[in-house]
Amino acid sequence: MAVAAPTLLDGRSLSRSVLDDCRSRSELLAERFGVIPHLAVVLVGDDSASAVYVRAKERACERAGMQSTVVRLPATSGTAAVSDAVGSLSADAGVHGIIVQLPLPTGIDPAAALARIPADKDADGFHRYNVGSLFLGQSAYPPCTPEGVMRLLDHARIGLEGANVVIVGASNIVGKPMAVMALSREATVTVCHAKTQNLAAHTREADVVICAAGSAGLITGDMVKHGAVVVDVGINRLSDGRVIGDVDFESVAAKASHISPVPGGVGPMTVAMLIHNTVRAAERSVGLSSPHPGAEKTGSSTGSSTEVS
Ligand code: GUN
Repeated sequence: MAVAAPTLLDGRSLSRSVLDDCRSRSELLAERFGVIPHLAVVLVGDDSASAVYVRAKERACERAGMQSTVVRLPATSGTAAVSDAVGSLSADAGVHGIIVQLPLPTGIDPAAALARIPADKDADGFHRYNVGSLFLGQSAYPPCTPEGVMRLLDHARIGLEGANVVIVGASNIVGKPMAVMALSREATVTVCHAKTQNLAAHTREADVVICAAGSAGLITGDMVKHGAVVVDVGINRLSDGRVIGDVDFESVAAKASHISPVPGGVGPMTVAMLIHNTVRAAERSVGLSSPHPGAEKTGSSTGSSTEVS
């Protein structure tokens, strides 16, 4: 029996249209309000992968007609220095979105640094107010990677209502919010993780597999059913410099109806959603959409913390 090639969930192409939409919105903000959406990135140390991601974020800002600032700090910076840099950006009315590029070098407490980002400038969607809002179905700034996955699925007209969705990976920034989003679309959600027994028994039942385990080639063709939708969130760097996902593309593509490639799938969508959140923050700053509901309550609070895993 001839097997039809799966449809590729092409994040590169979809991210371009998201960024072009952001550009139109940026132009409107500039014309009507003299405001240029501005994303600030705090980059600590010289991790080469982080440098590549930050460059991609700068390029995306350019495409979206936005301003970007990268605050570079040495790896030897203490937690206080990183937190202070974030605090200065938080106090700057000209900055609409702030992120701290993760991971931070050993010895710097990410929770302390992230706690200085107020909920209404939280372009990553990591703040506990935004995480809680997502849980309640009122998300103002959704976390970028799971939101990017939802956009890819929506664009391909893959409905989740009643679907068995199996998420592999239970991190605070991908797996857990992904589960909440799928649940809010009325999927039946299973979250697998490192301690899950017989992973394949779960993935074989899935209509949609979303893998964010950070384990190269973890999902193989024998672990998915025919016609499954498979979304690969993994970004694994091999010693030869190649980047591959958590999904063994060849064997899974032979069975899947839809599959996202790595690179060119979820990665560009994560960046596009970051830009989108920043444009929304800029729109909110001029009253173009309702104010961020957490803005007053959280302000530039230093007391809260964000768990990251
Ligand atoms: N490091 C890898 N991915 C991300 C991300 O989405 N946000 C931040 N802040 N750091 C990252």
